[in-house]
Amino acid sequence: MLLQISNIEVGYHKKQVIFGPSLTVEEGSVVALVGPNGAGKTTILNTVIGLLHPRKGEILFKGVNITQQKASENVRRGISLVPQGGRVFSDLSVLENLELGGYLLNLQKRNDRLRYVYNLFPILKDRPNQRASSLSGGERQILAISRALMLTPDLLLLDEPSIGLAPLMVKEIMRILTQISREMGISVFVVEQNVQEIFQIAQKAYVLNMGKIVLESHHPLELLNDENMRRSYLG
Ligand SMILES: Nc1ncnc2c1ncn2[C@@H]1O[C@H](COP(=O)(O)OP(=O)(O)OP(=O)(O)O)[C@@H](O)[C@H]1O
Ligand SMILES: [Mg+2]
Repeated sequence: MLLQISNIEVGYHKKQVIFGPSLTVEEGSVVALVGPNGAGKTTILNTVIGLLHPRKGEILFKGVNITQQKASENVRRGISLVPQGGRVFSDLSVLENLELGGYLLNLQKRNDRLRYVYNLFPILKDRPNQRASSLSGGERQILAISRALMLTPDLLLLDEPSIGLAPLMVKEIMRILTQISREMGISVFVVEQNVQEIFQIAQKAYVLNMGKIVLESHHPLELLNDENMRRSYLG
């Protein structure tokens, strides 16, 4: 098991928002976390990367307890987060954004990774000097994912990577996530609103509501046929 989250309780100041869910992510798989607005999905991702810390429960990554670890340390250990909106440095160029993503690498390795990422995403290779602010929403999301891949993480966390994108671009993002998990062996733990799309590619799905897991399925597609579930939690 690559990531094992057990009974975590997380909150902001006195307000608790995560009430003891347990989740696991297997090596090389795509795991989806879905649920209504305010359910606590982003809070869970931020807790895994180490921006927030649980007041109870435990998080193991590659068998190591990282529950109270800092984000910078978790990045070194092999976890990357693509925050909502695919945040990139908009005043910097495509190339500069990617170089920053590889800040932990020496020059040789960084150039190797750059070649690799450019290969994966020709759309970026064609425009190394374009400012990130002038990229389309989809291109920016791809840049954000590429930047996260510069450090060859073992676990890639994504917060709503397809939000606001046109249907074709959503398909492209799904294709990229599948490729990342299948070909690179990177595990993908992804928060999504677009259940129709993410359930096509995920091997496992969790439905979160009010800080608790209300459903877990190894056949996410079957959840789509469950009318009650859709109406209650998936909109
Ligand atoms: N910095 C914060 N301070 C206080 N409360 C917060 C903070 N961030 C989030 N919350 C609250 O925690 C709860 C869970 O928020 P979270 O952002 O994790 O939900 P979410 O499932 O990602 O929602 P969405 O689908 O809208 O992105 C919400 O009630 C939210 O108001
Ligand atoms: Mg969120």
